[in-house]
Amino acid sequence: MAEIQYDFGMVGLGTMGRALLLNMADHGFAVAGLDTDLGKVDALHSEGAGKPVKGFLDADEFVASIRKPCAIMMLVPAGGPVDSVIHSLTPHLEEGDFLIDGGNSYFKDTDRRAKELTALGLGFIGMGVSGGESGARHGPSMMPGGTVENYERIRPIVEAIAAKYEGEPCVALVGSGSAGHYVKTVHNGIEYAVMQLISEVYDIMRRGLDMTNAEIADVFDQWNAAELQGFLVQITTTVLRFQDERTGKDLVDLISDKAKQKGTGKWTSQDAMDLGTPIPTIDVAVAAREMSGLKDERVEASKILHNTTTSYPYQKAAAVADLRAALHTALLISYAQGLALLKEASKEYGYGTNLETVAKIWRAGCIIRSRSLETIRAAYTANPDLANLLVDPTIAADILHNEDALRRVVIGAIQASIPAPSLSASIAYLDGYRSERLPANLIQGQRDLFGAHTYERLDIEGSFHTHWEKL
Ligand code: 6PG
Repeated sequence: MAEIQYDFGMVGLGTMGRALLLNMADHGFAVAGLDTDLGKVDALHSEGAGKPVKGFLDADEFVASIRKPCAIMMLVPAGGPVDSVIHSLTPHLEEGDFLIDGGNSYFKDTDRRAKELTALGLGFIGMGVSGGESGARHGPSMMPGGTVENYERIRPIVEAIAAKYEGEPCVALVGSGSAGHYVKTVHNGIEYAVMQLISEVYDIMRRGLDMTNAEIADVFDQWNAAELQGFLVQITTTVLRFQDERTGKDLVDLISDKAKQKGTGKWTSQDAMDLGTPIPTIDVAVAAREMSGLKDERVEASKILHNTTTSYPYQKAAAVADLRAALHTALLISYAQGLALLKEASKEYGYGTNLETVAKIWRAGCIIRSRSLETIRAAYTANPDLANLLVDPTIAADILHNEDALRRVVIGAIQASIPAPSLSASIAYLDGYRSERLPANLIQGQRDLFGAHTYERLDIEGSFHTHWEKL
């Protein structure tokens, strides 16, 4: 036999695909890649020189080079491209081979593909991969979903390449069916919330407290050394300190204030609405990106609705201390919302997702990794059936200790006319979740008045309708 048989195949040799393959090769696996772009195949060969790595342009040769049963991962843009790759590969595959979709696919597509591939006798795993290019190269967090049997076949390789938290690999089966892509979608929803919260805190410091980017970066650096330690806080300082080569100015001040999105945050909110699970911090983080996109309208509106931004109503040192506690609290509340959604989705879709496992594999490698995830892991270890993270005794004590700071920050932002939708939604979620009584009694009365929708009573069982107008 002329060629070695490769242990694993990858379709899609973009930066992420190549980085994952090189990571596998570093761990002793012989790997093959397929792409239609010769430039990407060449890049794989040059980056993988001296390693057991080979790139292909032809699907037939690629599949023939992989040890049977073939395990092939696809890392291509979500949607149509995944279906195209599946259709182009399946004629070359045999019963028992299996595919892994490592992209940010919509979970309902994953369910459909699993059904189609199972009917062909092929295995399928939908797997969220987080950590960007550097994570893929040096240790991502991975969230596979599917059957235990299929997962066992890729376990050695994914455990080898995953990020490690105190020696434990940040990869584990997170449930059946499309659970892997669902968990990754919610990971991204939380990612949107965390990024929005950090940007609101930055805005308050920049516009409200008139701090320079360098000063703000110093503050984030200090925070990153303690309870707020996390990847997104850490990279914030790099972005804030970066000097533009062309102008010598802070690059962040030159970047257009229109945030883009590829859809995972929106899917999180959409499905939360379908499941009836409130995740307001994530919802408004998506809406804030949409608001940022209305740049032209905002410029016009600022002339008519005269922006009334005034300075933040608190002293700088006290304000910065409040912002730290507020950010920490709102981050915990965002994780709580995402995990509450996962709990509900697991019930609704029968995933069997273990939230302790999810918290464990988010502790390193992924974009939302942070020190708090170890506290969150401990909460689910102590009580796997926790109704909501916020009622874990340790987290509840932390929140109660810091909630006044979050409240002051929201009041200050509103007074200064600085939009802080995610911070406000977080305190409102807390206040709503712990309210024994909410004003929904009035809504029920209104619904019954105009539509005879009926209501239930606190004092007697049953369903009631009142002829309100006659009262
Ligand atoms: C990750 C990220 C990644 C995602 C980007 C961009 O976990 O590595 O979540 O998968 O694609 O963050 O997302 P948006 O373009 O929607 O901001």
